[in-house]
Amino acid sequence: MCGIVCYAGKAQCSPLIFEALRQLEYRGYDSAGMAVQGPDGVAVVRSQGKLEKLAQALSGHPLPGTVGIGHTRWATHGKPSELNAHPHVVDGIAVVHNGIFENHLELRRDLMSSGAVFSSETDTEILAHLVSRALSTTGSLKEALRAALHEVRGSYAVAVLGRSEPGRVFIAKNASPLVVGLTEGATFAASDVPAILKHTNRMVFLEEGELGVIDESGLSLETLDGQTVRREPKIISWSPVQAEKEGFKHFMLKEIHQQPRVIEDTIRGRVSVETGQVAAEHIGVDETAAKRIRRVVLLGCGTSYHAALVGKYWIEALAQVPAEVELASEYRARKPLVDPNDLIVAVSQSGETVDTLEAVKVARAGSAHILAIANVLDSAIPRAADGALYTHAGPEIGVASTKCFTAQLAALFLLAVFLGRRRGTLGAEKAMELLGGLLEIPALMRIVLGQEEGIAAIAKRYASSKDFLFLGRTLSYPIALEGALKLKEISYIHAEGYPAGEMKHGPIALIDENLPVVVVAPHDESFDRILGNIEEVRARGGKVICLSTVGAPGIDRLCDEKIDLPSSLSELSPLLSVLPLQLLAYHVADFKGTDIDQPRNLAKTVTVE
Ligand code: G6P
Repeated sequence: MCGIVCYAGKAQCSPLIFEALRQLEYRGYDSAGMAVQGPDGVAVVRSQGKLEKLAQALSGHPLPGTVGIGHTRWATHGKPSELNAHPHVVDGIAVVHNGIFENHLELRRDLMSSGAVFSSETDTEILAHLVSRALSTTGSLKEALRAALHEVRGSYAVAVLGRSEPGRVFIAKNASPLVVGLTEGATFAASDVPAILKHTNRMVFLEEGELGVIDESGLSLETLDGQTVRREPKIISWSPVQAEKEGFKHFMLKEIHQQPRVIEDTIRGRVSVETGQVAAEHIGVDETAAKRIRRVVLLGCGTSYHAALVGKYWIEALAQVPAEVELASEYRARKPLVDPNDLIVAVSQSGETVDTLEAVKVARAGSAHILAIANVLDSAIPRAADGALYTHAGPEIGVASTKCFTAQLAALFLLAVFLGRRRGTLGAEKAMELLGGLLEIPALMRIVLGQEEGIAAIAKRYASSKDFLFLGRTLSYPIALEGALKLKEISYIHAEGYPAGEMKHGPIALIDENLPVVVVAPHDESFDRILGNIEEVRARGGKVICLSTVGAPGIDRLCDEKIDLPSSLSELSPLLSVLPLQLLAYHVADFKGTDIDQPRNLAKTVTVE
């Protein structure tokens, strides 16, 4: 997730923008830049790396002027580099952008065929070209931006300035946040409240499809269709720390609630429900290669391993090819047999986990095709692989992974559909149904997240338990594992995840009235058998906390606590059933008062042996 800061006023803006970008450092970024309207037009300074690098660059090339835009970039299209850093400038028009333009490839092709020359690999640069092209006919930067925005599809918060219109910054938003801060004699805009909270607490939040102009006297706002918008500023009473968390108590909670957006961003531009196709040509598996695959081996650690376990079910079911999942630490420690017809899939949110990286190197010796699923562009594991499918979850700050997990699930589902289509094992009609179901997931996630209050109440009732057991079958088994992992990571309560069918082979001995048993029981093919498992728990006095599809028959009377899942395609239930488990772990930990965002002994990225 990138950061945007804009200033239009009377003061020299470069130090103000720089300091505001600093307030966004907690979000993570890999490059930064700034453009200022100066005496000689628009001047830009950019750098790869931390803001110190930008400070050094600015000391060599100061940017005098009182109107400017700044950006911290988290790479999604094009590796982290100075050339890919924003702002992108074309014909004296500078653009910064958060979000993803889904149709950037076709727009780039179109622009290039009419002579545009690109200097970066980003999707953002197309907007600078589109505005520049439109300016020659509209004559006004605002109208040029409006025309350009009608050509792009996707999510964006953008800020644009140009030498032809001194004193003003043009901003627009669709599905990516943007806020304007009002002060006497100057106006700020930013992607996030904390960037500008030091200067003002009078803020106007832009809504979808709005276009604004800021100058030293304030903001004028309209819709993309040209309707004037009048909105009173809100007075923000958040402390700076609360503002970083967007009002949530912890980053983990904020990230749990970001998941509908993250899934939208991860599938955006990659699926066609009309044709049942997934666009993933760049992973380097064409039809011949897909048909040659004899086995898929998925590798990962921790939460990524659990995502891989779900991926195995999907790949076997849709691509009809055997799939195995291995903990990367174990895989690298032995001498695995790798066949040239294997597809190796390394799953890692950070892209840097040493065990997964080393496992990839071990697999490399077998000359199989290696694919990375990662959240950090150009990180070590994608670099070591032959292709990469990126999740677009943005930086995850809470150590216990939440939004990266569901983003990995979405990417693995796309991969399974992609392989199924290429191998000819998945027909267009079924693929259309599956992709249609996937597109519904963000809305269904919002329904699940809406039950937070009830889940928090359940958490409070069981927070003093010493142990928890989590059960699930088939697709819900990895979710049971993930629920147990989340709980132990942040609440320090001992928890185990088990396939429900395995309960009678050991864990059943643990069950008594002090053991809460969380059962992940969506109304799918395993439902009747899991009802049997619930009966077994109840017969031994265990307390049953159930997650099941609303209206599923015969389950309510068996549960001490019930959390409803909205009905979805049963193949996609893991994307929904994990959310209550994340919230349950969060609220148990919050009740116990642990350090939720930085639990003891854990690291976000494990790069050491
Ligand atoms: C650490 C993190 C976990 C993560 C695991 C694998 O243990 O605390 O949240 O699941 O590493 O990380 P990766 O970056 O490879 O997904």
